[in-house]
Amino acid sequence: MKNLWGGRFREPMDPTALAYSETIAVDSEMLLDDVWGSEAHAIMLGACRIVTGDDLRQILTGLLDIEREAREGRFVLNVEDEDVHMNVERHLTGRVGAAGGRLHTARSRNDQVITDTRVHTRGLIMDIEAELIELQKVLLAFAERHVDTITVGYTHTQHAQPISLGFWATAYVQMLMRDLTRLVQAYEVTNVNPLGAGAMSGTAFPIDRRITTALLGFDAVQEHGLDAVSSRDFAAQLLGALAILMSNLSKIAEELVYWSTYEYGTVQMSDAFSMGSSIMPQKKNPCIAELLRGRTGRAYGLLMELLTNLKGTPTGYNRDLQEDKPPIWQGARLAISSLGAARGMLQTLRVDEARMRQLAGANFATATELADHLVRARDLPFRECHRIVGRLVSELIAAGSSLEDVARARVLLGDLGVDVSEDELRDVLAVERVVDSHRSTGGTAREEVTRMVVAGRARLDAHEQGLVARRESVRAARARTSRVAEAVVAGRPVHEALEPDGVPSPEVVR
Ligand code: ARG
Repeated sequence: MKNLWGGRFREPMDPTALAYSETIAVDSEMLLDDVWGSEAHAIMLGACRIVTGDDLRQILTGLLDIEREAREGRFVLNVEDEDVHMNVERHLTGRVGAAGGRLHTARSRNDQVITDTRVHTRGLIMDIEAELIELQKVLLAFAERHVDTITVGYTHTQHAQPISLGFWATAYVQMLMRDLTRLVQAYEVTNVNPLGAGAMSGTAFPIDRRITTALLGFDAVQEHGLDAVSSRDFAAQLLGALAILMSNLSKIAEELVYWSTYEYGTVQMSDAFSMGSSIMPQKKNPCIAELLRGRTGRAYGLLMELLTNLKGTPTGYNRDLQEDKPPIWQGARLAISSLGAARGMLQTLRVDEARMRQLAGANFATATELADHLVRARDLPFRECHRIVGRLVSELIAAGSSLEDVARARVLLGDLGVDVSEDELRDVLAVERVVDSHRSTGGTAREEVTRMVVAGRARLDAHEQGLVARRESVRAARARTSRVAEAVVAGRPVHEALEPDGVPSPEVVR
């Protein structure tokens, strides 16, 4: 079987060279995107009178057949044809004869492949966004449930200050909101139309790139031909966003791993998200959280893989660029499964509120509050209060005691020249009061956490509406392309078939 590009070749390709270069498995994921791209390109060729109405009808008849087979999982990609593009074109020509050979007019695989990749990638981005939104909803519900659950916050993994567990959860809500924004930004740079760049320099055929842009649901024409076939920075932006997202998820995983230790004992992972040991009957290991933590390395690796591929590739299509797709596909799968794992773990997590409350009161987590109180009540400089409370802590530790021993603390403070009553001290050191008094913007007080939950929900709703609108516009573009193709096959002239939406104008270029 001769390659479709084989005119200037006298020898067939070496089987090892073919095996080394074919991309059937990777490309099979974008089979339907390739068919859609070809339908849109063919309609444009017909509308611009670059192919005749008759040829267009035949081309679209064949493409709609292929589309149907692909949807039913019956379209088999043949390795000899190396990639999805050559497979579709060969099948088309096999079915409709010479007209099929006109489909590739004013098109190159260089603009074709990156069109397919962008169409497929934008779908993956929206799938990731949807999963991230679901995780955010779970975190917001968790935060709401735990606005009054008192625990201890850490710096350097040492007891720092009392906080609410809801406050902890809203930190992740805000972190992940930035991940969501990064994904939307990645979507925006992805969803532009490179089709029409040709091999690199445009074409002398009178094409209209607005038509394929509209039919393929792109937001704009990616203007420059050489840039369009050369650039993969959209993929680097996505993988960068995913690497950061995974690093945030791995923090949650890490916290759940050590919070569920016997030593912390503040949470218990559900059995459904834990695994046992083959030798130690008592073990319940947080394997899913550990895997989430560990797989973050893969996300970084995928970003590095792509960036290294892009480094130093000159402008123009270079075969190196074929290697862009595996990291994108794998990165998306990794993110989606990791988001699902994080969501499941949080939904089923058991919180030991008594243990958390106990830790919040113990080990001097309220010491800052005492210093702050002396600033307010005795009008002393903060540094002076810091020193006094530091001495108090040191004395209490030496006596094997803590701030919970209010009577002793009062005596020691007296020795340090500060006269406070036990009642005053008890009131100042009450962790619930401490938490609720931190009402500065972004503080741990109930009213601030509640406000942040409400604001987070509103932002998430807006993201979700944006996602629904984007999905709907892609769906509508896909439906319109099919409608136009079917109308042409049924005998309507292509210009009429393109009505009532017509061709968008003016041209949006990005
Ligand atoms: N399969 C190739 C890729 O994924 C597309 C083919 C472009 N090849 C070419 N020689 N122009 O990048």
